[in-house]
Amino acid sequence: MGVEVAVTGLTKKFGKQLIWRDVTLTLPAGEVSVMLGPSGTGKSVFLKTLIGLVKPNEGSVVIEGVDIASCPERELYEIRKLFGVLFQDGAMFGSMTLYDNVAFPLREHTRKSESEIRKIVMEKMDLTGLVGAEDKLPGEISGGMRKRAGLARALVLDPEILLIDEPDSGLDPVRTAYINQLFIDLNAQIDATFLIVTHDINTARTVPDNIGLLYHKHLAMFGPREMLLSSTEPVVAQFLNAQRVGPIGMSEEKDADELAAEAGFDMPPLPPITRQLEPSNGLPRRAERPAGEWCRENGIVPPPGSFDDAVVAPGSAG
Ligand SMILES: Nc1ncnc2c1ncn2[C@@H]1O[C@H](COP(=O)(O)OP(=O)(O)OP(=O)(O)O)[C@@H](O)[C@H]1O
Ligand SMILES: [Mg+2]
Repeated sequence: MGVEVAVTGLTKKFGKQLIWRDVTLTLPAGEVSVMLGPSGTGKSVFLKTLIGLVKPNEGSVVIEGVDIASCPERELYEIRKLFGVLFQDGAMFGSMTLYDNVAFPLREHTRKSESEIRKIVMEKMDLTGLVGAEDKLPGEISGGMRKRAGLARALVLDPEILLIDEPDSGLDPVRTAYINQLFIDLNAQIDATFLIVTHDINTARTVPDNIGLLYHKHLAMFGPREMLLSSTEPVVAQFLNAQRVGPIGMSEEKDADELAAEAGFDMPPLPPITRQLEPSNGLPRRAERPAGEWCRENGIVPPPGSFDDAVVAPGSAG
């Protein structure tokens, strides 16, 4: 049912360049979490640290009792089998067909026969809508298909933890909506722990159970979706609602002049909290929280019309 990933006090520097410091969060088992942040804040570095490809300067990443930031290579190799990863650039082998790309981890890490491999590869290609494209080369297909092929490959070893770096960059809104639905359906089906890095606000608002925001070399906030969507913390509110006014500028933090120019402009009120996507495959999601539950438990009144029913008034229903 997915495994928990406990990150404590994580700090990463490249030489003298601090990427982020003291990042502490827990990816709950079986839940979908999204990591947001302006470009260059170290989201991809964070993802790579979670699988031990990048070593942090300080802190720990504990998975099933093993700290992958400090464990020996041999143990790391074993732990990595729990992961499926879709890297930002897709990392497909250009000279191999989609079929061979998707089959690669099975040929590399298991002793399965070619007929067993075929069964698994075709199942994952079916799941990601790629049946019929097996013989194509990565250079012959659209960006969206490449993303889905990368996802199929990330799934072949039945991961407990799925890390996905910008699945929606370069995709049109229709394909983004399709891939978002695919994540929710997959989560209901395989119950793995998901971490999705994205820039897409609509994805962040509708897909995850939890949201995190990396900003200015630290984790600004991490918690249940409704907590961040109802947060009035300026950085969080600006980023999650794609507002121009606020502390974040084109190159991360705004300088004093930019902020002074904005003085007097108030941030617009928070928009309604959209409902979380539901699985389309009829399977229940084990991790799903009822809409409005977090707000109700914490006495937060979300903006009007946030949820269809009256579930969210504090003290009602709950
Ligand atoms: N192997 C490396 N060696 C040195 N610096 C690196 C390395 N990998 C990443 N960096 C630096 O770390 C910083 C964060 O990079 P990262 O790719 O994690 O950003 P990001 O948040 O994923 O950005 P984007 O949203 O554009 O993908 C950048 O300044 C980058 O140059
Ligand atoms: Mg990145």
